[in-house]
Amino acid sequence: MLLKTIEIEPMENINWGTLPFGYLKTDFNVRTVYKNGQWSKLEVSDSEFMPVHISATGLHYGQEAFEGMKAYMGKDGKVRIFRWIENAKRMQRSAKGTFMAEVPDELFHEAVVKAVKLNKRFIPPYGTGAALYIRPLLFGSGGEIGVKPSSEYTFIVFVSPVGPYFKEGFNPVKIAIVRDSDRAAPQGTGTLKVGGNYAASLRGIAKAHDLGCSSPLYLDSKEKKYIDEIGAANFFAIKDNTYITSKSESILPSITNMSLIDLANDIGLKTIRRPIDINELETFEEVGACGTAAIITPIGEIKDPDNNKSYNYCKNGKPGPVSLKLYETLVGIQYGEVADKYNWTEVIEFE
Ligand SMILES: Cc1ncc(COP(=O)(O)O)c(C=O)c1O
Repeated sequence: MLLKTIEIEPMENINWGTLPFGYLKTDFNVRTVYKNGQWSKLEVSDSEFMPVHISATGLHYGQEAFEGMKAYMGKDGKVRIFRWIENAKRMQRSAKGTFMAEVPDELFHEAVVKAVKLNKRFIPPYGTGAALYIRPLLFGSGGEIGVKPSSEYTFIVFVSPVGPYFKEGFNPVKIAIVRDSDRAAPQGTGTLKVGGNYAASLRGIAKAHDLGCSSPLYLDSKEKKYIDEIGAANFFAIKDNTYITSKSESILPSITNMSLIDLANDIGLKTIRRPIDINELETFEEVGACGTAAIITPIGEIKDPDNNKSYNYCKNGKPGPVSLKLYETLVGIQYGEVADKYNWTEVIEFE
């Protein structure tokens, strides 16, 4: 099969306001290789491709982890990244959990900042609803045939301008409870950001789409009783002035969710992380999905096809007041319009 090279879009052809959450070729990516116990100096590449050993553990045994972050162009013309240290730490946990070499904080930071700076012209302008998605990627690149950790690792950071993850943007979406497909097991890799979880989630996503919904709502895979997460986003609900989010051994600890807990506390809500029984769905005032890609996406309807039921929120077709307040505060911090009292953002300095 011939691989088609994706040409760089002339900038004037990019319609920032209608960008999908998809891949667009940018100018450069950065790469480093771990061999003999050390990481090489960061290299800049203008290629979207790389030669990979046919027996690389990343290809065969899923020895792979990734991260998802964004760079935001503010109204003040400054470019900010959000809580990068948490992404660095999470990638280190993913590496540890799959026996890979860890990328140290400083190298992670250097690679992310360099990838953003080198692709400055692809950072979507303020007010378009788009941002520059940053994708750090780590995988076993050394050849092995037995199931064992690789002796070599590759770390790459590339970027792509993206629009909202859900085409509805900050408008209510429909999701569906999927019981016959699990993305992760309680003592498996659900808390890590590793590729295998996402391959395992494709069946649930396809099922949700077949039901006319944007995403699957996964339940805990052991008892099918408690709410895990929503596709590639965490679940939260609002009830009785409380922000409630799932506690589970098989969900990804979302950095957005962690931030929303602080912001919810700041606006006087109680906050709690606990197992959420599926039967509670009918008691919630607001329900949302949160994540770097999803930001906050209000849930308008949850379908339960196995019980021929559906739960409805946002009855006037609009996000609830608490979700709206949290959304405005979070996005305001990311774009530099709301005071960043926790020092979550870092302004990228362009010379
Ligand atoms: C499975 C899953 N859950 C939750 C999230 C949200 O995490 P974060 O807020 O750190 O982007 C993501 C996205 O990274 C994800 O892939």
